[in-house]
Amino acid sequence: MNKITAAITGVQGYVPEYILTNEELSKMVDTSDEWITSRTGISERRIMKNGASSDMACNAIDQLLKKKGIDPLEIELVIVATVTPDFPFPSTSNVICDKLGMKNAWGYDIIAACSGFIFALQTGAKFIETGTHKKVIVVGVDKMSSIIDYTDRTTCVIFGDGCGAVLLEPNSEGLGIIDAILHSDGSGRKYLIQPAGGSNLPASQETVDNRLHYVKQEGKTVYKFAVTNMAEVSARIMEKNNLKSEDVDWLVPHQANLRIIDATAERMGLPKEKVMINIQKYGNTTAGTLPLCLWDWEKQLKKGDNIILSAFGGGFTWGALYLKWAYDTPIN
Ligand code: UT7
Repeated sequence: MNKITAAITGVQGYVPEYILTNEELSKMVDTSDEWITSRTGISERRIMKNGASSDMACNAIDQLLKKKGIDPLEIELVIVATVTPDFPFPSTSNVICDKLGMKNAWGYDIIAACSGFIFALQTGAKFIETGTHKKVIVVGVDKMSSIIDYTDRTTCVIFGDGCGAVLLEPNSEGLGIIDAILHSDGSGRKYLIQPAGGSNLPASQETVDNRLHYVKQEGKTVYKFAVTNMAEVSARIMEKNNLKSEDVDWLVPHQANLRIIDATAERMGLPKEKVMINIQKYGNTTAGTLPLCLWDWEKQLKKGDNIILSAFGGGFTWGALYLKWAYDTPIN
């Protein structure tokens, strides 16, 4: 009997309608379109004016299920990667399952910041590989605008809101998730953190006055770690799986900074045409970046394509995941 692997059999993204341009940001803080574009590659990002992370996720999952012709009751597990849950508890997964009537599903949230989708995908794959689950949804969603300080020009220009969801199902043709290398290093927490609101520093008048519920990032330091580790882990997963650069069809990199993406692609020996880049229109949507790329590129992907997902983020967390795409999208 062939080994069962977990394959992505559908993908759907969702981004809010409102577009926050560099131009508009430059009226809010001391910045410019030229600075943001040249330092990050971002031109605009989406902002959710009303609603929570669960609403973005529900939109994506609802469309995914309709596209696949699957009843919500068939879904067994929903794993949500997010650092902007609707509530500290209950989990966003619980909220999503309730809103969409996925009454037979259980689920939970994973906090791994920008690496969240890879961590969640690898976790979800295990439930399929062991044969205990047949239909698992993995979501990467963040409403970063809910934790971004729009008076801090060093962070507010980078982030945006967005979501992507994939369906995982068993595959016996050797397609789907093949391998992953994942890392965590909590000593990096001082460089990228939302300091208040947890048990370490519960909400108080003082934490609010000191703007401690917003993301604090030491950009330069995070940049150095991100460039080194994202490139290194991406090269390492290729070596581990005997993949040469010509064997890799697509790199799906976390969209934090165009310069980090370029460095990763260069280390892997990949030309620009094989690299998914949509940072210019969405910015950094944290857990949303990777599934949003898969959604944007879905029609170009072919059954059997070798794809490497790669990310670095708060925690620190980082990793790379190797998968073989499992389907061709019919061209209508
Ligand atoms: O996704 C999770 C992981 N996060 C990342 O991977 C992000 C990693 N970091 C970065 O992408 C970059 O560090 C940033 C985009 C955040 C910043 O770019 P940078 O090239 O590292 O800039 P910097 O922080 O070294 O700042 C350079 C200068 C400073 O001015 P001085 O001190 O040289 O006078 C900043 O104050 O640019 C200034 N600056 C800005 N100027 C205009 C910082 N932010 C802005 C801004 N507009 N928005």
